[in-house]
Amino acid sequence: MSREIIAIDGPAAAGKTTVGRRLAARLGWRFLDTGLVYRALTWLAHQHGVPADDTPGLLRLVPLLDLRAGAPHEAKSATTVWIGGQEVTDALRDPAIDADVSLVARQPAIRAALIALQRRAVGDGPAVVAGRDIGTVIFPDARLKIYLDASPEERARRRAAELASRGASASLEAERAAILRRDALDSQRTAAPLTVAPDAVRIVTDGLTAEQVVERIQTLWAQRQSTSTGRAGATGQ
Ligand code: DC
Repeated sequence: MSREIIAIDGPAAAGKTTVGRRLAARLGWRFLDTGLVYRALTWLAHQHGVPADDTPGLLRLVPLLDLRAGAPHEAKSATTVWIGGQEVTDALRDPAIDADVSLVARQPAIRAALIALQRRAVGDGPAVVAGRDIGTVIFPDARLKIYLDASPEERARRRAAELASRGASASLEAERAAILRRDALDSQRTAAPLTVAPDAVRIVTDGLTAEQVVERIQTLWAQRQSTSTGRAGATGQ
């Protein structure tokens, strides 16, 4: 039995968060950006002086994390991360976090320790969940799985624009190099590497606006729903 979840996986800066957040708002669902879990743990490691490859040190920090999938009525309609009663979401997109987060995310014991937290953050309701291993590990029973992709150039352009919009300086070439480095780390790691789930629909977003991608996914969802309803009707379930 599949769950009412749309899983959106894909490489860094493919548009998963923008698309996922808008899609969730349209459907009136919760949205969970799971990259923030790994970012929050990296942020905590920096605060506590724990090296990014110190597995036991990182595991001790895991209980400090509190993650919430934003409900659609909330102002940001996005995932929020709390640490010690303080919301730290905005600090998590810093380049200092970008530099270390793949090292944190590649450790099998860390990934295993964070599975329950991610499932809990979604709860029972329908949700859009974005990440790298959502359709393969976290919610393999998601009713619709999307793999969002884009060329490294397009992704570097988007990341640079996002940084510039927050007043940070960004060079296109540096962003492209950082993205390629993270792609390599994310897809070559042994624990839950970035892969396309066999039942995922791949969408290449070069030349598409976020709105066009959202519409495409909504159409796929509507088709998926009518197929599953049709099937349930045919078998009398
Ligand atoms: O999507 P993002 O850039 O916020 O992801 C940050 C890092 O976390 C990135 O290196 C990949 C990793 N990640 C992961 O391994 N599994 C996920 N479900 C989400 C993110």
